Amino acid sequence: MPVTQAHQVAAAKRLENVRYAIRDLACVADEVIKQGHKVLPLNVGDPLNFDFQTPPHIVEAAYKAMRDGKNGYAPSPGIPEALEAIRGEATRKGITSVQDVFVTSGVSETVDLCISALVNPGEDILTPKPDYPLYSAVLCKLGIALNPYDLNEDDAWQPELADIERKRTPRTRAIVLINPNNPTGALCSRQMLEHVAEIARRHNLVVFADEIYDKLILPDSNGDVTPHLAFAAVAPDVPCITFGGMSKNYLVPGWRIGWGIVSGDATAVKPYTEGIHRLLRARLCANHPEQYAIKPALEGPQDHLIEVRRKLRSRRDLTQKWCESTPRISCVEPRGAFYAFPRIDIPESDEVFVKELIRQRYVMVVHGSGFGQKPGTQHFRIVFLPDERTLTSAYAGIAEFIRERYS
Ligand SMILES: Cc1ncc(COP(=O)(O)O)c(C=O)c1O
Repeated sequence: MPVTQAHQVAAAKRLENVRYAIRDLACVADEVIKQGHKVLPLNVGDPLNFDFQTPPHIVEAAYKAMRDGKNGYAPSPGIPEALEAIRGEATRKGITSVQDVFVTSGVSETVDLCISALVNPGEDILTPKPDYPLYSAVLCKLGIALNPYDLNEDDAWQPELADIERKRTPRTRAIVLINPNNPTGALCSRQMLEHVAEIARRHNLVVFADEIYDKLILPDSNGDVTPHLAFAAVAPDVPCITFGGMSKNYLVPGWRIGWGIVSGDATAVKPYTEGIHRLLRARLCANHPEQYAIKPALEGPQDHLIEVRRKLRSRRDLTQKWCESTPRISCVEPRGAFYAFPRIDIPESDEVFVKELIRQRYVMVVHGSGFGQKPGTQHFRIVFLPDERTLTSAYAGIAEFIRERYS
């Protein structure tokens, strides 16, 4: 028998900074589950974990496609009827300078492809801080140094324009704008989009407009709704890729269907778009049968959204009230998506807080340091998707934990 010696297989060094706090906490939760407790997952933005159901006509469309034998590879950019429906959606959103659209395996793949096709070694892109961790994970994977700009909590988590100007260098290629935002729930005003467009024009930056939550807009405390504005509609001349998808608006995160809408001046975006298509071809295609649900989703009945927004509004209000009435906690009211990002004033790290909360109260939220935050501040992210009864009991548990641990 040959003598074998076990050598450890080291992972690539550039992965050292890849963090995905949302899922990393699962290890702590596993300990607690092994002890026989049920953990309430307020950490993952999956509506299907709670009382939200995929609209049946969307499921039927994918099922029919499978029955009809649409089970081979799809064209690399996506099937024509889906591409046409996405162009129609762009028009409805007021995006007048569409140059290309393509379908991906979730917005996660759009992000990966669009960054990979743009950034050379030594260049960077500006990402928001706190961030959605996928962006920094992709950048680390590519060996690109992170260049985060601050979102300003004192200004309802809007991008801090002065910080964008400070952080931009001649090697900066793009800026990421997540609107509505994960993890803060913030929504950008027209004026803010115009300011960002002006910076992009002046410095020749591509804008990655991640608008995956664009149909989940919530009213303010007076009941007024600020409609979502697509960045590309406000700045048709700026090279932009709008990221959209089925996961959140159409309640099918497990299907992995997303897309990119390229807009801006046709000549300016042409070489970049060709680069994206090279990568689209190299990875063959996005999930095929599910693409047949894109047109029925975008063009069919939208009734489920009324119900989804009604539930989210009620749960957001409950969350906000709890934040306002709980010592040591304050929160900018979320205006979109289903996340709240309260600030917490405690004498230890928010990571310790979150881990002990799982161990002692079986409630899982994500620490602000997992998303990046201003030094000296501490936060945690709540996913407010569960029903009111579940949230009320979870919040009572968190409040009690805070009282016992910090008074
Ligand atoms: C801001 C943001 N972008 C992208 C994604 C990834 O979405 P998808 O399921 O389409 O990959 C998420 C998922 O939570 C998100 O919050």
